[in-house]
Amino acid sequence: MALVLGIESSCDETGVALYHTERGLLAHTLHSQIAMHNEYGGVVPELASRDHVRYTLPLIRKVLIMANCALSDIDTIAFTQGPGLSGALLVGASVACSLAYALGIPAIAIHHLEGHLLSPLLSEPKPEFPFVALLVSGGHTQLMRVDGVGEYTLLGETLDDAAGEAFDKSAKLLGLDYPGGALLSKLAQSGVAGRFKLPRPMLHSGDLEFSFSGLKTAVLLAVQQNSQDEQTKADIAHAAQAAIVDVLVSKSLSALKKTGLKQLVIAGGVGANQTLRAQLSHAAQEYNFKVFYPDLEFCTDNGAMIAFAGAMRLKLQPAQKDYRFNVKPRWDLQRLSHAD
Ligand code: KG4
Ligand code: ZN
Repeated sequence: MALVLGIESSCDETGVALYHTERGLLAHTLHSQIAMHNEYGGVVPELASRDHVRYTLPLIRKVLIMANCALSDIDTIAFTQGPGLSGALLVGASVACSLAYALGIPAIAIHHLEGHLLSPLLSEPKPEFPFVALLVSGGHTQLMRVDGVGEYTLLGETLDDAAGEAFDKSAKLLGLDYPGGALLSKLAQSGVAGRFKLPRPMLHSGDLEFSFSGLKTAVLLAVQQNSQDEQTKADIAHAAQAAIVDVLVSKSLSALKKTGLKQLVIAGGVGANQTLRAQLSHAAQEYNFKVFYPDLEFCTDNGAMIAFAGAMRLKLQPAQKDYRFNVKPRWDLQRLSHAD
């Protein structure tokens, strides 16, 4: 039995949560920096780090109050070690390790994508191992076979832009704020299907790799070649979303076929996309598999998935009281072993 404090600070969200191995998620809270980065059209790393400095400790106090717990109740602190922005990661890592040292408890370093991969296990109904996971965030697009905690096999990934990036770059070309994924999706609701036909890169490549950079060029051309009234923008948004979602759905189906597995888990920010969810649910009925999503609030970056991944790792092996820390801005999930 253990109470785990989770700290996420890999990019532009400070997320903090308390997860209890028996009682489940006790509290979680988040501060998003989106409004701050918006005027620059993307994340400014130095501003991100400074904002994590401002928010991490107040958010820790807040979750303790929300869960009616004291600092001394915490048994272990889990923090995101990578991948992500180095300065931002360093804030979470240094707060986690110094607080753990002060309390005399262990700190556990968590891979951010492992947090995303395991996040559907925070919701009901839960998938059971093994499953196929489609990890679609701002920086990653990967299909993984997940046999257990720490047992991840890469089936395929993007050769260039991530799906979230494709959403964000298309949104930017349409004059939407950063990050544009959710805004593009909203705009697409009033779009007319079929007016623009955009490419579905690698759809028939026969493997599980993705490529989205060509799509961005096609969106750019559509923007340049048509006057940008609201309806045209919505029609282009509709076409861009349809192209991205078609590829994600088709490759996910191929991954299920290739592995023979019957459960698909969606993780990462793009997993919040309602069109993706609707098409996958439809395909699940047609092809007889089950699809699992994290609750919407756990799709994008959050502290709960880090606290939860920490709790899962604790079950595998006891955590060490070793307070030396480093961060891993680039870190391949495949290289994460059982014992990491
Ligand atoms: O997982 P996440 O919060 O952060 C990373 O680890 O990257 O994912 C953020 C990405 C952004 O590209 C954002 O535009 C996209 O997820 N996103 C969406 C939606 N909500 C967030 N993309 C499409 N539709 C959405 N509803
Ligand atoms: Zn993420």
